[in-house]
Amino acid sequence: MTESRAFPRFPAGFVFGAATASYQIEGAAREDGRGPSIWDTYSHTPGLVANGDTGDIACDHYHRYPEDVTLLRELGVDSYRFSIAWPRIVPDGSGPVNPKGLDFYARLVDELLAAGIEPAATLYHWDLPQALEDRGGWRVRETAERFAEYTAVVAGHLADRVPRWITLNEPWCSAFLGYSVGRHAPGAREGRGALAAAHHLLVGHGRAVEALRAAGVREAGITLNLDRNLPATGSAADRAAVVRADTQHNLVWTEPLLAGRYPHTEEETWGELITGQDFRRDGDLALIGQPLDFLGINYYRPIVVADAPHREPDPALRTATDNRYAEVRLAGARHTAMDWPVVPDSFTDLLVALKERYGDALPPIHITENGSAEHDEVSPDGAVHDRDRVAYLRDHLTALKAALDAGVDVRGYYVWSLLDNFEWAFGYGKRFGIVRVDYDTQRRTPKDSYHWYRAMIAAQRD
Ligand code: FCB
Repeated sequence: MTESRAFPRFPAGFVFGAATASYQIEGAAREDGRGPSIWDTYSHTPGLVANGDTGDIACDHYHRYPEDVTLLRELGVDSYRFSIAWPRIVPDGSGPVNPKGLDFYARLVDELLAAGIEPAATLYHWDLPQALEDRGGWRVRETAERFAEYTAVVAGHLADRVPRWITLNEPWCSAFLGYSVGRHAPGAREGRGALAAAHHLLVGHGRAVEALRAAGVREAGITLNLDRNLPATGSAADRAAVVRADTQHNLVWTEPLLAGRYPHTEEETWGELITGQDFRRDGDLALIGQPLDFLGINYYRPIVVADAPHREPDPALRTATDNRYAEVRLAGARHTAMDWPVVPDSFTDLLVALKERYGDALPPIHITENGSAEHDEVSPDGAVHDRDRVAYLRDHLTALKAALDAGVDVRGYYVWSLLDNFEWAFGYGKRFGIVRVDYDTQRRTPKDSYHWYRAMIAAQRD
């Protein structure tokens, strides 16, 4: 079999891309008027990020973006998903706009367009201006309003050149890792605060969609990290734990966004929790449930769930944000450097189940992230033979194609990530890139997975 025949084939017009996020790659944290974000504060707090790593320099993409766009052009991608750093645009979270911040993204967008690559911009990939966190962060509604203002500014400058816009990246992480578990910025461990954050993120999304529409953008959507939750055993208790996990990870977002209601399952009374709260206002559901042009989904792994009542010892978390289930290691599967199990079939199943649940209410899907961190080694000749990542990408693209064949309307796929980068609380130790970054020299070296992805994209056009 020739190599190209081994590649999954996608329909004409299917979008292949690569993704990154501002805080993970840009660096230049104090340059050109950028204000501090919650991730600057978090990463500079001793003990919170592995190895004391911060995004101060990261991949120095802020200065090296032309080289990175060249890598994208040579890769042959149709689209590049990047995120805009809110604190570069509105350094204090409200008030004056920083023209140098807007300039940076305008230059990046122009560079992409000149290379024949469609820009796809994420407005919020977790770098909230610290000034807004100081006023309550996502716990308060004001942040959703500031988000809409910032969106209007950015879209007003770039809507003519950026066709695809993502309001939020993985709001589950912002709300629950950020305000309940404390493993992401701002590092809070609260019950009600996380619930309020989840709601205000959705309100912010709705207000941002309005701003994007007003600016005339072509496509507006949101990116969710939906989980495929599998029961550890066939026991009723474990199956009930799966319902709780589904509610808290998936339905919290998909129900208001796609069905105009809060989730209510036999295991969770999430809807009552939200409707009973004073942060909720009349009209919120209509705002949140506005039609979307696409749904972004990030998929990495399935989660194996077991019953675990009262797992969380902190009484402040004894609310709906207390998961009451445990994650179990999946026996028999290969695990990546994140210790995540590799189960491509779960990717197909997740998409098919979503289609079954929402039917025609499900907008077209873009896979806005998929990829793997591996224990990369540099060969003596300087190459990175990342066979495990190549296998991961090949098997997940094959699983994605199976979902298309089963009738799920998927329009695009973005590999995470173009570059090795700052992997949040894991720092630089976890490498997701298809291009290696040597953090001492900032040298970029395309790995075997880059060459594989390039050949796969080229094969679609044969
Ligand atoms: C996702 C994030 C992305 C990256 C990958 C590995 O949750 O959106 O920034 O960290 O995981």
